[in-house]
Amino acid sequence: MKTTALNAQVLKADFPILQREMRGGKKLTYLDSGATSQKPLSVIDAQSNFYKTKNAAVHRGAHLLAEEADEAYEGARKIVADFLGAHVDEVIFTKSATESLNAIAYSFGNAEAGSKFALKKGDSIVVTEMEHHANLIPWQQLARRTGATLKWIPITDEGRLDYSILDGIIDSTTRVVAFTHQSNVLGTINDVSKLVEAAKKVSAITVLDACQSAPHFAIDVKKLGVDLLAFSGHKALGPTGIGILWGRSEILEEMEPFLFGGSMIETVTMTDATWARAPRKFEAGVPNMAGAVGLGAALEYLTSLGMENVHAWEMELTQYALDKISNMPGLKVIGPLDAVDRGAVISFTVEGIHPHDVGQVLDQHGIAVRTGHHCAWPLMKKFGIAGTTRASFYIYNTLEDIDNLVVGIKSAQEFFKVG
Ligand code: ALA
Repeated sequence: MKTTALNAQVLKADFPILQREMRGGKKLTYLDSGATSQKPLSVIDAQSNFYKTKNAAVHRGAHLLAEEADEAYEGARKIVADFLGAHVDEVIFTKSATESLNAIAYSFGNAEAGSKFALKKGDSIVVTEMEHHANLIPWQQLARRTGATLKWIPITDEGRLDYSILDGIIDSTTRVVAFTHQSNVLGTINDVSKLVEAAKKVSAITVLDACQSAPHFAIDVKKLGVDLLAFSGHKALGPTGIGILWGRSEILEEMEPFLFGGSMIETVTMTDATWARAPRKFEAGVPNMAGAVGLGAALEYLTSLGMENVHAWEMELTQYALDKISNMPGLKVIGPLDAVDRGAVISFTVEGIHPHDVGQVLDQHGIAVRTGHHCAWPLMKKFGIAGTTRASFYIYNTLEDIDNLVVGIKSAQEFFKVG
């Protein structure tokens, strides 16, 4: 087997939580990074050192602590910008990817009639059938508030977007195309260029949900060609409570803010206010400074590994896991069966056993997976299932972790006398 420059067994040592014991003294096999990744010590330290040595409200104080907090916070912004191939003023800190996506939808909802962001009856917003709720419900709500119609690109039985009917869905009514880069359930990596091309043809704005992609492979916003992008810190080795909204400068300059308050203003009178330029316009209030610093440390950690090595190792894990589990009796993988255009997320059903029961047996083996609908209810409906068991991999997973998963699944089948 091809080996990459990344040694997962060695990396495990950087993650304190991976050293702890689980029920019955079992080792932890963490296969739930799609829900949240674990954090290396450098991230935990960066966040706690911020509080220990620099804590002050950024963009407000004249004292040394404020100056150092500013440097740390703006330094983190620069790290994110470099990670995305973006300009530093295009990077906005939010509390989560969910907030980033809501901020976009609310901003469009706040746009004045006639603006390129304002939607009305007769306009349409296009999403895909594989969106998780964070990139579906904000658009449902925006459609409801504006009278626009919500449309979606269906998926094939294999779990890929049906590009053959794109022209019938993205049409002259389309104002926004919002889609996931990689499905959190199926692992499918979508063809961004195809979707951007279709959207550009009708001058629609493109929004990319990069929650499951930015942490796993190199992203260059210029090459992707989208207008706006969101991802969460906690899935990229960073802390919870910090997310990223990236937007092309000219788009951000024209967009209305969503949250109003301190720091996002230029001038204020008793009856009116004007806005600072991006990114400040979108960062009302005292931000999550320690979270931003923690995310900066996380992206530095990933960059030091090399995103191409991260991706190569995950591809190796995915291929190994698909080979091992797709032929197990009673097991059905929900999503593409080959590792092409596919990330390190494998959802499956086990005949005769509810996903929650599978999860519980795996837990007895120290294996952490996610079970249920994965915040993608319509996708479950499409496949006619209540839920799946999902194993999602990251840099610290080894082939042995996948062997443990196979043993755990067999043990569930034996316990429930199926398979
Ligand atoms: N969207 C996250 C997941 O897929 C929470 O688990």
